[in-house]
Amino acid sequence: MANEKNNILEKIVSLAKRRGFVFQSSEIYGGINGCWDFGPLGVEMLNNIKQSWWKSMTFRKDIEGVDASILMHPKVWEASGHVANFSDPMVDCKDCKARFRVDTIEEEMCANKAFQGRKAIKCQQENKFTEPRTFNLMFKTFVGPVEDSSAVVYIRPETAQGIFTNFLNIQSSSRQKIPFGIAQVGKAFRNEINTKNFLFRTREFEQMEMQYFVKPGDDEKWFDYWKDERMNWFIDHGINQNKLQWRKHEKLAHYAKNAFDIEFEFPFGWGEIEGIHNRTDFDLSQHEEYSGKSLKYFDESTKEKFTPFVIETSAGASRSFMAFLCAAYEEELAPTADGKEDKRVVLKLHPKIAPIKIAVLPLVNRDGMDEKAKQISDELQKNYKTFYDDSGAIGRRYRRQDEIGTPFCVTIDSDTMKDDSVTIRERDSMKQTRISSDKISNYLFNAGL
Ligand code: GAP
Repeated sequence: MANEKNNILEKIVSLAKRRGFVFQSSEIYGGINGCWDFGPLGVEMLNNIKQSWWKSMTFRKDIEGVDASILMHPKVWEASGHVANFSDPMVDCKDCKARFRVDTIEEEMCANKAFQGRKAIKCQQENKFTEPRTFNLMFKTFVGPVEDSSAVVYIRPETAQGIFTNFLNIQSSSRQKIPFGIAQVGKAFRNEINTKNFLFRTREFEQMEMQYFVKPGDDEKWFDYWKDERMNWFIDHGINQNKLQWRKHEKLAHYAKNAFDIEFEFPFGWGEIEGIHNRTDFDLSQHEEYSGKSLKYFDESTKEKFTPFVIETSAGASRSFMAFLCAAYEEELAPTADGKEDKRVVLKLHPKIAPIKIAVLPLVNRDGMDEKAKQISDELQKNYKTFYDDSGAIGRRYRRQDEIGTPFCVTIDSDTMKDDSVTIRERDSMKQTRISSDKISNYLFNAGL
């Protein structure tokens, strides 16, 4: 069973490369661990995820957006606790030089090629490991031309701090009243020691974070509200409920009063895709102390001044991308044009997430069908990511679209030339419906696009 699941992950990684979703970064040089590139279909899909999240967060009256810089004043990371606490205890193997996180040794395998299949815990029992040492996960670099300690800056390991430091700028410029939130999508970087499982744990990744500022005392109510909202977002975007679960944090981070993860069942097992945290007034109070600037909120109606509590929803965009891909991947038997059956690979992606929304396929390249198809494709392309394909048997063309998750295919045939009707084929049911060509946009709109 475990092998079968690993096999599925291998198939997904291979499809992602073959069809242009995800490539290994710097592949021609042998790649670099923990870094991936999103290809033509991948970047469409990733953008769709981020846009859908952005809409769900900021197309409401109580949440504003921000796009903060990646490099911030180094004191930010002292105040946030990352300089002191954002580290993992690690041990090194004196034999093969591999480095392991102390808390995950039991899940790790020995990295020495001569001992394939050997568990790392066995090496520990044989005293091959050094004493644990802590390694900070933040990448460091220097601003300006001089590489000395006064020029050190950190490449942000989370987007959240750009929200805290802008809290009052945003509150006063947008005239928001508490409760209100600030949303941000952006890159984050962590020097993860063990990168693994494709996009799951990478060194460069994207986050979609929202901090919701509330009156102390109202925090638990809003925590429950955001828990529901965020779980429903994944379900509404096509992930089956039985592939999602909650995990309560028993050991809380230094800033948290309560924390739950949304976990997805990846082929390698359950893994976190988003955290919902009650961060209390920790971050704003810390920044107030380290900057010497007040970050208190003044409530006009009650004349009270207080430091708000923060409910954080923190999702990985690239990790969610992987979850959407795994949740959508299916292999099934499907009828062929000649009445037989063959295996089809289909990505059952929600239409909002799918990289291509509609494919336009002339049945044959003659009798005006190709011109008509091009005309329809050009028209649809103005509003929807459209793909035009006129090569190969129609059945093969459908299968190529199924494999990349295109929810709809439009076929132009000889009847189109007579009455301007087309067939629309729906990816999951494979059902075909005949409609007038000027109704295609309407059809897509009704499908939620
Ligand atoms: N601001 C809170 C915070 O950053 P986190 O649990 O460390 O919390 C939030 O990260 C989300 O970011 C995770 O649920 C995951 O989806 C994503 N994430 C974290 N580290 C990652 C990594 N190394 N690679 C890919 N995604 C990662």
